[in-house]
Amino acid sequence: MKEKYYITTPIYYPSANFHIGHCYTTIIADAIARYKRLTGCDVYYQTGTDEHGEKIEKKAREAGLTPQEYVDKIIIDAKDLWKSLNISYDYFIRTTDEDHARRVGKIFKKLYDQGDIYKGTYEGLYCIPCESFWTESQAPDGKCPDCDRDLKLVSEEAYFFKLSKYQDRLVKYYESHPNFILPLSRKNEMLNNFIKPGLEDLCVSRTSFTWGIPVSFDPHHVIYVWIDALSNYITSLGYPEDDTLMQKYWPADLHLVGKEIVRFHAIIWPCMLMALGLPLPKQVFGHGWLKIDGGKISKSLGNYQDPREYINAYGVDAVRYYALREVPFGSDGNFSEEALISRTNTDLANTLGNLVTRTISMSHKYFKGIVTNPKVNTQLDHELINQVLALKTIVNEKMNNLKVNEAIEEIMEVLRFCNKYIDETTPWLLAKDETTQDRLATILYNLLESIRICAIFLSPFIPDTSKKILEELNTEKKSYESTGNFGSLETNLKLNEPIILFKRIEATKA
Ligand code: MSP
Repeated sequence: MKEKYYITTPIYYPSANFHIGHCYTTIIADAIARYKRLTGCDVYYQTGTDEHGEKIEKKAREAGLTPQEYVDKIIIDAKDLWKSLNISYDYFIRTTDEDHARRVGKIFKKLYDQGDIYKGTYEGLYCIPCESFWTESQAPDGKCPDCDRDLKLVSEEAYFFKLSKYQDRLVKYYESHPNFILPLSRKNEMLNNFIKPGLEDLCVSRTSFTWGIPVSFDPHHVIYVWIDALSNYITSLGYPEDDTLMQKYWPADLHLVGKEIVRFHAIIWPCMLMALGLPLPKQVFGHGWLKIDGGKISKSLGNYQDPREYINAYGVDAVRYYALREVPFGSDGNFSEEALISRTNTDLANTLGNLVTRTISMSHKYFKGIVTNPKVNTQLDHELINQVLALKTIVNEKMNNLKVNEAIEEIMEVLRFCNKYIDETTPWLLAKDETTQDRLATILYNLLESIRICAIFLSPFIPDTSKKILEELNTEKKSYESTGNFGSLETNLKLNEPIILFKRIEATKA
């Protein structure tokens, strides 16, 4: 049976159209999902939208629409964006989906019936744009520690979830599962700043607005958006109504989240799951932010640019590649169009594109585009072959540790070696001499085979380009298994005509 792999992105607020920061998480999750599929896993990749809450209600009112009309428009745009980025999600959940809303209602009721949710009065500081509560010690200046805007003092009758009851179990879980929250700095932050000072029970209902899932036994209250939102990871699998997909995919293998929402996933979510008697996700990874000029890109800060502008200008794979390669996963990074151009030119146009075009052109010129049998390999050839064959283990190790940028760099390193191999073996000189035709055939075979294997490894990251390369090679050998055997490329194949994979971009565009 295939190994299963369940990966999620956060579900995004459709309060405005998505920006490159949302693309960042979704592209990384997509690359991991594609990599797992390539290696033979049964993958369930889920993304979606978090559509309830006061902020959306307010935005819709400002736009003169009902909240549903407002979010419906944004969801059409979001799905179009994911399509143009080649995002291969298996399921797109919306918190306004009837199934989800009904299931969240049941989860809330179950927690209430078993005594984990109770009724009380809430008084405290609330940040409307971030939909989060803060204690006075966390926000002594009355400003939201995440976005620095003024907090609102709220007092209302509300339901509470007994977070405090799960504190000790949560600490024990952290101790016995050292990789539950990564990077480790985020786990320590959770323990020291939030858990150890003492978890307070969490207010999980609101009466100050209506755009949300009503509490079924007290419909004057709507369920707190984070309870609604976090539940998406299991309601999409049918919980608590149908066990089939839960059996198959739960617990999630990886929740990818931005660093500012780690605390919801590392504290509230595991406690909810403990209360429901469900296993906890295997890992929550908190990544950094993409910034523009050192500042956060955000709809609410207004430095929004439609990511499709970059896709239209430079191509989907240039954008994907940049997002995956530029920033070490976990750290913050800067997004700049100049860096995108430079990355595309050096890695995609020069290293990869040139190599493929040169190799296929030479094969056409010297062997009429027919893949010819290799003969004796020299020491340099063996060096190349060993590097290519080592990729499988190295890429696997890097991907399993979510070092996506390093996995890509390893592949690039091999492609650079291929370019060096051409320069050192000078096929154009060998072509002039009758006696060196076997040597020439061997070199071209080794290059084509290296390109084939690298193209397979590149498929999770730049799927369109990988496909084009494999089509140029006209090969049937596209499987992950075939990357372990140097020499799988069929001889006597007729290669297709060379194409330009990436044009060099002139910097004036930026
Ligand atoms: N709706 C909640 C998530 C609920 S998950 C059960 C939410 N939505 S959000 O739209 O505000 O943010 C979603 C994700 O996008 C977060 O992980 C956030 O970190 C990420 N990003 C938003 N801007 C970003 C950047 N500029 N860079 C990288 N990621 C960013 O929070």
